[in-house]
Amino acid sequence: MGAVYDENDIVQIVLTDHRTVENQIAKWQEMRNANNCDEATKWFNQLVFEIARHSVAEEQVLYPLMEAVGKEGLQLSENALQDHKKIKVALEALRHEKDEAEFDRKMQQMLQELLGHMQTEEDIELPFVMKNVPVEKRISEGPAFQRMKAIGPTLPHPSFKERPQVLQAVVGLLTAPVDRLRDLFKEFPSADEVQATKPV
Ligand SMILES: [Fe+2]
Ligand SMILES: [Fe+2]
Repeated sequence: MGAVYDENDIVQIVLTDHRTVENQIAKWQEMRNANNCDEATKWFNQLVFEIARHSVAEEQVLYPLMEAVGKEGLQLSENALQDHKKIKVALEALRHEKDEAEFDRKMQQMLQELLGHMQTEEDIELPFVMKNVPVEKRISEGPAFQRMKAIGPTLPHPSFKERPQVLQAVVGLLTAPVDRLRDLFKEFPSADEVQATKPV
């Protein structure tokens, strides 16, 4: 197992994204607890944006690396894709939930699902990638992961099929400009506030 730290290593990028997501959940929770609905909505929008981009990059760049290893990797990818599907369905339902109490209940359920998935990724999938994918390959795939985040959809789209993945990528990329247009009309935390949730 390569112990060398490289910020372009796809495994490091995924871990950094996970810490960012956790920090943004904490911001949402803080605003929700303070009954600051405007700020809580901003952090919810930011969270959806972060999770949608992270998920599509994993589906298109990280999981294929596991699948290329063989049967065990294929099974891990399959499990992870099923988790993603559940989380996207939950996020989409939340985006349209108007009842406050229902929203809180569904949000806690979604967070449980999401945090459980991230934990499994860190305990099982990422160690599998570290063990089976050479460090050079992991480093060369890092920029591809970041590119996919930059151009991919920013909303969950649970109706997209995870497979075939290539088709999903094409549909996803066609949808991305529409998502980005919609994002213009939503409230988000400021750039500085978002930057503060990223681990250094
Ligand atoms: Fe994932
Ligand atoms: Fe992840």
